[in-house]
Amino acid sequence: MRKVVPSVLTRDPKELEEKVRILEPLVEVIQIDIMDNVLVPNTSINVKDVEKAAPQKPMEIHLMVNHPVEYVEPYACIGAFRIIFHIESADDPAEVIKEIKSFNMKAGIAINPPTPVEKLDPYLDMVDLVLVMGVNPGFQGQKFIPDVLDKVRYIKKSHPDMTVEVDGGVNPETGPSLVEAGVDILNVGSYLFKQMPVEDNWETMQKIARGE
Ligand code: DX5
Repeated sequence: MRKVVPSVLTRDPKELEEKVRILEPLVEVIQIDIMDNVLVPNTSINVKDVEKAAPQKPMEIHLMVNHPVEYVEPYACIGAFRIIFHIESADDPAEVIKEIKSFNMKAGIAINPPTPVEKLDPYLDMVDLVLVMGVNPGFQGQKFIPDVLDKVRYIKKSHPDMTVEVDGGVNPETGPSLVEAGVDILNVGSYLFKQMPVEDNWETMQKIARGE
């Protein structure tokens, strides 16, 4: 069953709180973007801000950071159910996956547009999810890079049961091609908060996820 997951990217604890409160009644999962201004050229709220906002829906943490292994325990302690880290980060991916699973969380691995999809090969039997980035991470509202859909097809060919999420530039224009490529989770950021009300934008994306 294809899903839509909202992502919240902000450095403002107030905005985090506001968006979490708006999304909570609509969604099943909330993705929160964490950035260290090293792996990506931007910073974000931190674990204390997320703890304070206390989303009342399952939290997926997208670590756009250079040493993800250091972030695993703090987010496990505030109740994250899934941690996604970048294969491009400095730590050993197998080590990070082991650390995430040691806290009984689901492990996701993310891959940026320039990174060859074959780099994932050694880890596809270890992770629960692959996050295929549709943009170079760090900011919302960027243009989707269609080439990344070949990565979705590559992963699905070798691992048909792998959950594949696409993140970055997902909206009503790009959504149908993601569905056609076999994506399981459409991650939507800025589109949801464009021209309020959020509920209408959310329903639009749900329809696309249902293939309507
Ligand atoms: C990109 C982030 C995405 C972002 C998506 O740097 O990792 O999660 O929030 O935002 P949109 O949907 O606006 O591209």
